[in-house]
Order: sequence, then structure tokens, then C-alpha cells
Amino acid sequence: MRSDAALISALERSNIHPLWDRYQRITPMAPRAKDAPMHWRWRDIEPFTERAAEEVAIEDVERRALILAHPAFDGATVTTQNLLGAFTVLQPGDKAVPHRHTAAAIRFSTRAEGAVTIVNGTRCEMKEADLVLTPPMCWHGHINQGGRRTVWFDAANMPAICALDASFFEPGKRQDERFWEVSDAGSSEYRFPGEETRRKVASATPGPDGARTVRYTKNGGSVMPTLDLFFSRVDGTTKPRRATYNAICLVVSGEGRSSIGEQSFEWSQHDVFTIPHWTWASHTSRAAELFIVTDRAIYERLELLREEYG
Ligand SMILES: [Fe+2]
Repeated sequence: MRSDAALISALERSNIHPLWDRYQRITPMAPRAKDAPMHWRWRDIEPFTERAAEEVAIEDVERRALILAHPAFDGATVTTQNLLGAFTVLQPGDKAVPHRHTAAAIRFSTRAEGAVTIVNGTRCEMKEADLVLTPPMCWHGHINQGGRRTVWFDAANMPAICALDASFFEPGKRQDERFWEVSDAGSSEYRFPGEETRRKVASATPGPDGARTVRYTKNGGSVMPTLDLFFSRVDGTTKPRRATYNAICLVVSGEGRSSIGEQSFEWSQHDVFTIPHWTWASHTSRAAELFIVTDRAIYERLELLREEYG
């Protein structure tokens, strides 16, 4: 029994904590992610997209998203710390009612040709590999105007915004027909066409990890204040890297494998895997494309960004 045991319990009963017996918990030596890296295979997700299209009630259409949830977060709906990744399914004619929120979100088209996202009165097509941003508090809604079921990849930072308890959500009106009457925009501040991204990647010089990576930017910085997006082409094996931020990777095309922390994943098109913060990661492929969603911008703005190469 330590000499100060009686003092410590007396302090705790008075809602006062001593530093001397718990400073290691209060000030960890280094970040330690709650979640192990995780891999979701498209072939396991796809049957659920079909079931969701058939079984989900019409009034839930705008929320017909399958969110990839890591079990490490005690039942909370989180993919990796601060971030959510999901797939959304729309049947022909489906309309997702407009709304807006303080969380930042994106859509990346995997099989969404025919679907359209409207962001603040701008109509954004969703051809393969197109990225559509819905920045904080921008009105957005979706409609499938084609003849086929559409599926896209979604990502958002609700977990970060909710950890700060700064989430506001405003629903729009289902009856507001004017929301849908907008003009076309080829590329806009909200839409990044896939063909343009691929052109940039082809002419990019390899980064410090050896992959050709393009950062989606706005005014020279991250594309949104709290979400930071990248498109990477992996030819060969990347140099191991760890960083203080979290990442969700969508396999846009090709196949390969990744060694992340203690895990090793063999992935192929439309699979999703996570790189939790401060976890070593290296990717191997012959010509695969990865779309990478991160919270890097948050760490950068707070001057908490650190990256290391192995
Ligand atoms: Fe939304």
C-alpha cells in the first residue's frame, strides 16, 4: 500500500485528481490508435447494397447508406477515428431530400453514372472517379436520373465534429421543387472530374513514399478545412510511412496489397481499408489507383502534423 493511498482516495472523493500517480495516462508518450487497421471487401459489401435497394423503406431513401463501422469504437458508428466511410445506393428515380450540416462530406463515384448531386444550386454529375464535395453548411441533395441503380462511396467527418460537439443539421423540404431546377456545371468548386485528376496524377512526380499522389486543393490548401483528400497511383512498393492523421482508402482501380501495422491486406477494386493514425503503412501494386480521405487538415491547422518514413 502506497503512503499516499488515503490521500488519493480523499482527493478523488472531492473531485480532485493527483497528477503524480496518473501522469502517463494524462500525457501519453505517443499517439495510440484505438482501432486496428481494417479492410472491407467490395464483394462482401455489394450483396448488402442490393438488399438495401430492395428492402429499405421509401421514406428512408435519403439515408440508404451502408456505413463501414469499426468494432473498436464501442458500438459508435465510426470507420476510423474522426472519419466515416460508406456506400450509398439510389434506385432509378430516387431523390434524397436536401439538407446541410457542419460536418464536411464528399462523394466519390464508383458506379454512380446517372446520379446527380446538387450542391448550393450547382448540378454535379457523378461519372466514374468524379469527386463531389459538400463543404460545411452547403445545401446538398441527390437524384438518380438514370435507368440503373447507382452506388457511390461517401466519406465524412461526423466523428470529429461530434467529438467537438459542434454538429448542426438542418433538413430541407421534400416539396421544394426549386432545389432541383439548376443549371449544369462541368467542373465547379464542388466537382472534381475523374479524368482531370487522372491527368494530374500521370504528370505528377513521385512523392517521398514513391507513389504519384495528387492532393485535391482549394486556394493552395486542403480542399475543405477539416477534410483532406488525395488520389494516388501506386506502381511498385511504397516506402513505409506513419502520420498523426487518419486515412480511409478506397481502391478506385487495380489490385494490390498493403502492410498496415500488424496487418496485411490483399485488396481489389472498390475495397476500402483504413490507416489509423501513427500506424506504419506500405502499399504494393502494379498500377492501382487509391482515393484517400484523411483528416490531415485538422492536424495541420492545429500544428499537430507529424510524418515519418521508414
Ligand atoms: Fe449530407
